[in-house]
Amino acid sequence: MKILAIETSCDETAAAVVEDGRKVLSSTVASQIDEHIKYGGVVPEIASRMHSECITAIVRAALSKAELTLTDIDAIAVTFAPGLIGALLVGVNYAKGLSYSSGLPLIPVHHLRAHIAANYISSPDLKPPFLALVVSGGHSHLVEVKDYTEFKILGRTRDDAAGEALDKTARAMGFPYPGGANMDKSCKDGNPNAFALPRPHVEGSPLDFSFSGLKTAVLNIINNANQKGEKINYEDLGASVMARVADCLVENTLGAAKLSGLKKIVLAGGVAANSVLRNKITKMCSENNFELFIPPLSLCGDNAAMIGSQGFYEFLAGKKADLNLNAFATMDIDF
Ligand code: KG4
Ligand code: ZN
Repeated sequence: MKILAIETSCDETAAAVVEDGRKVLSSTVASQIDEHIKYGGVVPEIASRMHSECITAIVRAALSKAELTLTDIDAIAVTFAPGLIGALLVGVNYAKGLSYSSGLPLIPVHHLRAHIAANYISSPDLKPPFLALVVSGGHSHLVEVKDYTEFKILGRTRDDAAGEALDKTARAMGFPYPGGANMDKSCKDGNPNAFALPRPHVEGSPLDFSFSGLKTAVLNIINNANQKGEKINYEDLGASVMARVADCLVENTLGAAKLSGLKKIVLAGGVAANSVLRNKITKMCSENNFELFIPPLSLCGDNAAMIGSQGFYEFLAGKKADLNLNAFATMDIDF
C-alpha cells in the first residue's frame, strides 16, 4: 500500500511516499529556517504563509521523485495535531482537497505518534510493545507503546519541553535559531561540569519532567554575569545545560523501564538528534541490557516519511477521516 504523506505542523513543509509503513519511496522537506532565523524563533503567521506557498511543489516533488502519479497512490496521510494551528490547517486543507478530487482515503496522523514511527523506517524489525522517549520542541513524553495505535503516557513535562529549554537557553547565549541544534554543534568540546545547575525533580511524580527551573537558573547566570561585566564561557555553559537536560531524560527513562518492565527503548523527536542525549541513553541502555532504537539524524527532525509510516498503521486500525477533519494545536498522544 502506497501512502502520500503531508506534514506542515511547524516550520518544515514536507511530503513523502511510503510503502507499507516501512519503505520510503521518496521524502522531500522544505525547511523555513532561513526565514525564521531573522526573528530568533518560529513566527507562526510566516510559517503558515510559507507552507501555503510551497506545499504544491513539495507534494509534486515527492510524487515525481518516487516516479509515481496520484493514480498510483492508495491513501493520503496528513498531520492533524499537535502543532501550530495555522500551519497544520494548510496541510489538512490541502490533503482534504486532494482526497476529495482523487477519491483517495484520508488518514489523520498525530505528529508525536509519527516521530515514534520514524523508528519503524530505520529499524524494519521494530515492533511494539516498547518504551518511547519522545522529545521535541513542544513535548517531552515517556510513552508506553502498547501497539502501533495504542499508547499510555507514563511521564510528561510539567512546564517547558526539553527542546524549548534548550532553544531558550541557547538563544540567551547568542546561538542562532534553531538554538538546540546550534548549541549541540558549538559546545561539543565544552566542560559539562563547569556550572552547578539545579537537577529538577517533580515531587511525587518521579517519571515527570520539569525544565523551567533549569532554564531560569541558566538565564540568571547569564544576566548576573552581564550585570557584573563578566565574560561567560558559553561552550562550557551549553555543555552543562545539555548534560543536565540529558541526565533528566535518561534517568526518568530508566525509571520508566524499571517500572513498566519494558526492555526495548525507542528515542524519538527533534531532540533525539542531540549528541549528548544519544551518548548518555546508549550508555544507560548498554549498562542495563536494554535494546535501544535511535533514528538516524535525517529522521529525527520533522519529515513526512514518518507521517506515512504511522499513517499506514492508523489505516490498518481503521482510522479514516472525512472532509470534516479539523486541525488541533494540542492533543495527547493517547487521544
Ligand atoms: O521534532 P522537531 O523537529 O519539531 C517539533 O515537533 O517540535 O523538534 C524540534 C526541536 C527544537 O527544539 C530543536 O532545537 C531541537 O528539536 N533539536 C535539537 C537538536 N536538533 C534539533 N536539540 C538539541 N540538539 C540537537 N542536535
Ligand atoms: Zn516534530
